[in-house]
Amino acid sequence: MAAFRGGLEGVVVAETSLSDVDGAAGRLVVRGHEVETLAAHAGFEAVCGLLLEGALPDAAGRARISADLGAARAEAFEGLAALGGALEAEDGMDALRAALAHLREAESRAATRARLLGAVAVYAAAWARKRSGAAPLAPDPSLSHAADLLRMTRGVLPSAGAARALDAYLVTVAEHGMSASTFAARVVASTRSDLVSALTAAVGALKGPLHGGAPGPVLDMLDAIGEPERAEAWLEAELAAGRRIMGLGHRVYRVRDPRAAVLEAAVERLAAEGTPSRYLALARAVERAALGALARRHPERRLETNVEFYTAVVLDAVGLERASFTPTFAVGRTAGWLAHAEEQLASGRIIRPEQRYVGPRPAAPRACA
Ligand code: COA
Repeated sequence: MAAFRGGLEGVVVAETSLSDVDGAAGRLVVRGHEVETLAAHAGFEAVCGLLLEGALPDAAGRARISADLGAARAEAFEGLAALGGALEAEDGMDALRAALAHLREAESRAATRARLLGAVAVYAAAWARKRSGAAPLAPDPSLSHAADLLRMTRGVLPSAGAARALDAYLVTVAEHGMSASTFAARVVASTRSDLVSALTAAVGALKGPLHGGAPGPVLDMLDAIGEPERAEAWLEAELAAGRRIMGLGHRVYRVRDPRAAVLEAAVERLAAEGTPSRYLALARAVERAALGALARRHPERRLETNVEFYTAVVLDAVGLERASFTPTFAVGRTAGWLAHAEEQLASGRIIRPEQRYVGPRPAAPRACA
């Protein structure tokens, strides 16, 4: 029987043309494009085209995708009343999962993709509005997905800088190899189930604090530390208590996650445009202290900053509440989930690994006296 690997580390479960995560070099390439280039020059709509249609679209293609997403947001908003109490859930990811379960596939693959991309954004925003006691806000299909997401959540038209920063965030997290949620989506798709089911499974996986649930706790940590001078003692106490430092460590990266630098740069740019982050200086001090503390505790294993650390800072800087961080991650990653689910469907092979039984064996039959 094959060797057991509880975390499937080192096990190749798919051949993909979607992204290459180089953990040793700290490099993320999405369909041949560096993530840094995409975040700087391609909007989320263009990255949806890249992932779901195979190439970066031209201006006309971007306009078509933007119109499709705008129409899908409008459709999702029209359907909010039919969701019952789904968006009343206390946790945003529970709300997203419950709301998505009401959807059905559309008449075409392209329409289903748009429906899901639009729905996740509208549900995330509507949940945040309900949570703060406000009524959901109708989408403005003429806006970019990022600008409208921010507008529907906060109730005001965002500045161009804030919309650009959120757009860079959505691009940065749109696709990232065989993450746990992407694998969940692929497992469901491999059974020839539908894209709605694949996405619902992915949302459930993303919720966990070891995956997409980390950025809210990153801000909780920054609040608890408060002052850079307190960072080292606080972090040492957490590690001594056996707790993990959120926003640090990664299964694949042995160097700093390249997405951390992209998001840190987005926060710097926002500050240069007049919207400084209240957390950036403290975050940098805590990051330095955490890297030191983790290196002392795990000299055998290099643990570096992951995407969630500066996700927390950038999403706070654009005015999102921490409870909305993971649902916002889902808005971006929906593009990658859909692309992977479709790739898996095309491969036609059901994912069905093995287990090793370690439970009791039936007692040997007693010989008759
Ligand atoms: N804080 C403290 N210890 C950590 C750590 C962290 N952030 N990340 C890893 N470690 C420890 C592990 O507990 C393990 O120690 P052990 O052997 O004594 O149990 C050791 O470092 C090696 O862990 P590793 O194999 O590198 O981690 P993994 O691949 O199993 O898990 C994560 C990867 C991301 C789940 C893990 O790093 C983590 O929990 N990070 C914090 C949550 C987070 O930021 N998640 C977002 C990921 S994008």
